Amino acid sequence: MAILLTGGAGYIGTHTLVELLQGGYEAVVMDNFSNSSPKALERVEEITGKKVKCYTADISDRDALEKIFTENRIEEVINFASLKAVGESVEKPWEYYNNNIGGTLTLLDVMRKHGAKNFVFSSSATVYGDPAQIPITEDCPKGICTNPYGWTKWMLEQILIDMQKADNEWNMVILRYFNPIGAHESGRIGENPNGRPNNLMPYITQVAVGKLPELGVFGDDYDTPDGTGVRDYLHVVDLAKAHVKAIDKLRENPGCFICNLGTGHGYSVLDIVKAFEKVNDIKIPYSIKPRRAGDIATCYCSPEKAEKELHWKAELDIEDMCRSSWNWQKNNPEGY
Ligand code: NAD
Ligand code: UFG
Repeated sequence: MAILLTGGAGYIGTHTLVELLQGGYEAVVMDNFSNSSPKALERVEEITGKKVKCYTADISDRDALEKIFTENRIEEVINFASLKAVGESVEKPWEYYNNNIGGTLTLLDVMRKHGAKNFVFSSSATVYGDPAQIPITEDCPKGICTNPYGWTKWMLEQILIDMQKADNEWNMVILRYFNPIGAHESGRIGENPNGRPNNLMPYITQVAVGKLPELGVFGDDYDTPDGTGVRDYLHVVDLAKAHVKAIDKLRENPGCFICNLGTGHGYSVLDIVKAFEKVNDIKIPYSIKPRRAGDIATCYCSPEKAEKELHWKAELDIEDMCRSSWNWQKNNPEGY
């Protein structure tokens, strides 16, 4: 019995693979390496001392999927495979809908054909749009997304819910991630964005390593304690552990289970800058820039449902996140 990780060579996929392999689970990876490197999987082998079975393939390639499902006894799939750059999704909506939704529909079709009807889906806090309530609970209004990437997440959630309603042999675990940052303590795997980073933490680490001159803080006039945007940052290793719990949840036949994954704490951009400077003893030059289009003031979750029903709680704090992010970047200034 094996778990298939699509997009398993990516940032969250590699960290999850480490936790699964170290937990004694059998895992198989497929990735088209559109946003990752095969070297990341070599690093996972180095950390775990286990061989990683990987197929270089796209989730929309039906023949490749048939081969994977024929050659392995796949019981569950964790679907990390997705394009994820918000700005790019506005410029290339077709590519996003085709890759994320089209690809996932092909994957789901091959899964049901092989009787493997257990699915974990990487959704996002983005489905809550500008949240109606803070902290965000799972029943908050959803589905007013501000970009095609967000719509792919929301539409796929709806597709999974409808498929499970129509066929109760399916089990769907939908995980709404808040803001994953940090890296494995070994410093051997971590986030490796292509080109100039869009997200806060990789931007900070690239300033710290001297690749970028300063951080631009997008707006200091939000209705937040220091005027900068507040988010629920969670350590990627905690997030990875939540996927192990998600597999255990699937094995209880939950039907459709949806939960937020975050810490329940909100930190501002300047809180993150200060924490990074303190734990790593590095100055991060920054200047205030205009607000970034589409950003919201505050976004953090209620993690209660995950704690009660997934039996998962984030354990690592903001200092762990800042320390491990820097440990990864300084040891791998050019990424993989
Ligand atoms: P990532 O880009 O590092 O990993 C995604 C992986 O999927 C990459 O290795 C990429 O090569 C692969 N991939 C993309 N399209 C594919 C396809 N058609 N076929 C096969 N492989 C394909 O991203 P990540 O940060 O690890 O994110 C994993 C998942 O979590 C994604 O679905 C993302 O949308 C979701 N998510 C991420 C965040 C975040 O902040 N990182 C937040 C919320 C949700
Ligand atoms: N920020 C800056 N400067 C930067 C980058 C970010 O000030 O150079 C600020 C943003 O304005 C925001 C905060 O830092 O206030 C966090 O921004 P990120 O881009 O790191 O994260 P977002 O919350 O905007 O979005 C991320 C993912 C989305 C996902 C969302 C919720 O990029 O795909 O988390 O999971 F939907």
